[in-house]
Amino acid sequence: MSWNFDEIIDRRASDSIKWNYFDEDVLPMWVADMDFRAPDVVIDALLKRVQHGVFGYASQETDTAAAVVDYLKQQYAWQVDPEAIVFLPGVVVGFNLASHALVGEGEGVLIQPPVYMPFLTTAKNVSGMRQDAQLVCDEYGRYSIDWDVLNATFEKNTRMFLLCSPHNPVGRVWTRPELERVAEECLRRGVAICSDEIHADLVFSESKHIPIGALDHEIGKQTITLMAPSKTFNVPGLYCSFAVIPNKDLRKKFLAARRGVVGESNVLGMTAAAAAYREGRPWLDALLTYLQNNRDSTEAFIRQNMPDLKMTHPEGTYLAWIDCHGAGLGDNPAEFFKNEARVALNEGSWFGAGGEGFVRLNFGCPRSMLMEGLERMRAALAGR
Ligand SMILES: Cc1ncc(COP(=O)(O)O)c(C=O)c1O
Repeated sequence: MSWNFDEIIDRRASDSIKWNYFDEDVLPMWVADMDFRAPDVVIDALLKRVQHGVFGYASQETDTAAAVVDYLKQQYAWQVDPEAIVFLPGVVVGFNLASHALVGEGEGVLIQPPVYMPFLTTAKNVSGMRQDAQLVCDEYGRYSIDWDVLNATFEKNTRMFLLCSPHNPVGRVWTRPELERVAEECLRRGVAICSDEIHADLVFSESKHIPIGALDHEIGKQTITLMAPSKTFNVPGLYCSFAVIPNKDLRKKFLAARRGVVGESNVLGMTAAAAAYREGRPWLDALLTYLQNNRDSTEAFIRQNMPDLKMTHPEGTYLAWIDCHGAGLGDNPAEFFKNEARVALNEGSWFGAGGEGFVRLNFGCPRSMLMEGLERMRAALAGR
């Protein structure tokens, strides 16, 4: 079986925010969804479900939960009880519910900027206190955790460590020793971990994703892990994600926070998830090869043609984090590229401290589209 990731699919008439937000001549390389068709096995399962014709409320104890349990075991050697799985309409919903469940007014949520934008407002949404332990970047553009900074950021009132694993936008796939140390620091302070692992399956060949909650039983008991097929199989508009909460008490608090506020997923999202987890692996393997080539092509192009830009080497995700300071584009380089190159990128400062002067580029698209975007950026820089 082979898949044509080179195919250009017109998305403008498909209610796509990515493709409809900017003027038509702007190439959108911002929002984190990909420009590829979902796997055929997912599309076929959806067609079959649609043809059934009855769209009643979805059940929680479905085939989808069983598919998730099998997938976690196969993919991460993580044995999860089906009871521990809570379906949700989104991962952002999930970490906000976690903070509603665990963080009181004035209490702390620790995050590691630069990080995915909604992390920045999670504490505020519960009238809590955001506690930033900024990541550090070395001369090669590689990010890591400064343990002194992290230790100094924990406060007595820190209730939740909101981890991004793998990390958007810096592309780190945290190693076992890093995750063990994060877990250790949280455990000894009694701080719960909420781990956003939406990019877990999008990891390149040199790295391996480890769910922090799978490290050991004690850590698992203190962790809410959030996952989804949405990034992996390119079905984010179907709104199906799930939390893994092995600790009964923690799960009770989470479910109480959810009650009457948000629902579960919808039947089509659940159908897509079950098919993707059961039968999507060959497609995913092919996708990862394609994305890894896109990543390498982006790095090579920037090195050769835009040497004033510096790209962090992503170990996972389909997002390139690019330092534009050397090009002298000021604090808002995305604006320059939108106006002068007609390419839409994410503005680095959206990701909080340490993001100023950076852009985030989504390389989850056909190679010809990627090269067109990069070429437009090169020409805009050269034409200044
Ligand atoms: C780290 C991270 N978490 C969550 C999301 C969004 O998840 P959802 O659409 O399920 O709320 C994204 C999307 O870019 C993301 O990068």
